[in-house]
Amino acid sequence: AATTPNAWRWAAGSTSRVASWLKNATTATNTPATAMAVESRGHRGRQPKRRATKTTSSQRANPPRPNQRALQLPQARAAKRALPAEGVTCGHSSTCREASPTPATRAASKASKRRRRCMARHGTAFGKLEAFGDNARGMDIRVDQKAVLVGRQTLSPSCFALELACPSPLQAEPGQFVMVGVGSAADPLLRRPFSVAGVTPKERGTALQLLVKEVGKVTAMLRSLPLGSELAVLGPLGRGFDLASAGPRPVLVAGGIGLPPVLFAARELRRQGTEFAFFYGASSGPELLLRREIEEIAAGRVVFCTDDGSFGEHGLVTEVLGKRWQEGTSRLLACGPNPMLQALAALARERGVEAELSLEEPMACGVGVCLGCVVRLADGTYAPSCQKGPVFRATELSERW
Ligand SMILES: Cc1cc2nc3c(=O)[nH]c(=O)nc-3n(C[C@H](O)[C@H](O)[C@H](O)COP(=O)(O)OP(=O)(O)OC[C@H]3O[C@@H](n4cnc5c(N)ncnc54)[C@H](O)[C@@H]3O)c2cc1C
Ligand code: FES
Repeated sequence: AATTPNAWRWAAGSTSRVASWLKNATTATNTPATAMAVESRGHRGRQPKRRATKTTSSQRANPPRPNQRALQLPQARAAKRALPAEGVTCGHSSTCREASPTPATRAASKASKRRRRCMARHGTAFGKLEAFGDNARGMDIRVDQKAVLVGRQTLSPSCFALELACPSPLQAEPGQFVMVGVGSAADPLLRRPFSVAGVTPKERGTALQLLVKEVGKVTAMLRSLPLGSELAVLGPLGRGFDLASAGPRPVLVAGGIGLPPVLFAARELRRQGTEFAFFYGASSGPELLLRREIEEIAAGRVVFCTDDGSFGEHGLVTEVLGKRWQEGTSRLLACGPNPMLQALAALARERGVEAELSLEEPMACGVGVCLGCVVRLADGTYAPSCQKGPVFRATELSERW
């Protein structure tokens, strides 16, 4: 319907009319495009008045084309609005259940079905804007979940654990992360990335565990928010550890607040019955989190180290690992500050084993759009850490990523 001369003439009238036409395209009945579709299908409803105009043959042959830049934003908005809709109808009225009559509503209906399939398969909703033109093609849209803060436990002077009740079932791999948004105001504008420390399926939805270190605005808000507050949770996102290829004797290494993904991996390996050793380093004894739980999960094969020697072995975790290296180590799985990960990558190269490193590059969008988190790969190209990582094999990365 949108390519008929009347629709083009109407659309070409002004940029703002093009914008509002597209904005309403998924639901409205009072646009020429939808009205004509309704009419051609013989739908009995109130028909909008149509002005009788004469069209010359040259106008019919060359209908004016609306400005593509003006189309881009409203198309994306229309697609986004379509995604969360549970039941997309034709848009004739709120009770009409006829099949979608226009390309726009048909696309919205497909997007809604795709969203429900994604929720069922991955526990997260996303869609592609394929149906909405070249400008938006291939772009992922993910939808926040409204999670409720149900538990908080202080673990050290600067760190605490959070439990969030998410309404839908989540499936997460160790190493994946979620983007957490706090508050509805513009500040803080950006969501913040946090590694998944554990997920527990519940009767309704999922309990999501995060371990957080207070370093700035959002982490301070997370520490003081009252229980029962709503948070926006996007994810799980990114690529996690490849536990299936970890081999018979992997070694897990965590540094500071790099603990959450490594702890999650340890729980999974234990569940699979794989033996592993656990090295965990922090600046001082009180900053070593969840010591008893780690000892239980690692069945005693755990080495704690502190920079100041106040607990466990004295020294950096990478130095202690080098001294206690055991032949037969099949893979290193690690998360921590960049200097620690770079030292581990060098150690793994020296000993001829593969290392999987979970990077914590600062992120803004978390879905591969802003390119604020790119890392340099061994072949000289760059990859967004939020999409291709945050877990990379050491051999994939350049020496100074
Ligand atoms: C994939 C990923 C997983 C993460 N997992 C966890 C986690 O499980 N627990 C946790 O506590 N933190 C984690 N982080 C770091 C966390 O995202 C930041 O600490 C958080 O965004 C800080 O937000 P803020 O508003 O409190 O601090 P801001 O006010 O934004 O910043 C405060 C200070 O922290 C620094 N900072 C911010 N982000 C980072 C970062 N990624 N690395 C180093 N310094 C940073 C800033 O430069 C600034 O100096 C993770 C980061 C990534 C990328
Ligand atoms: S955070 Fe935006 S591309 Fe990775």
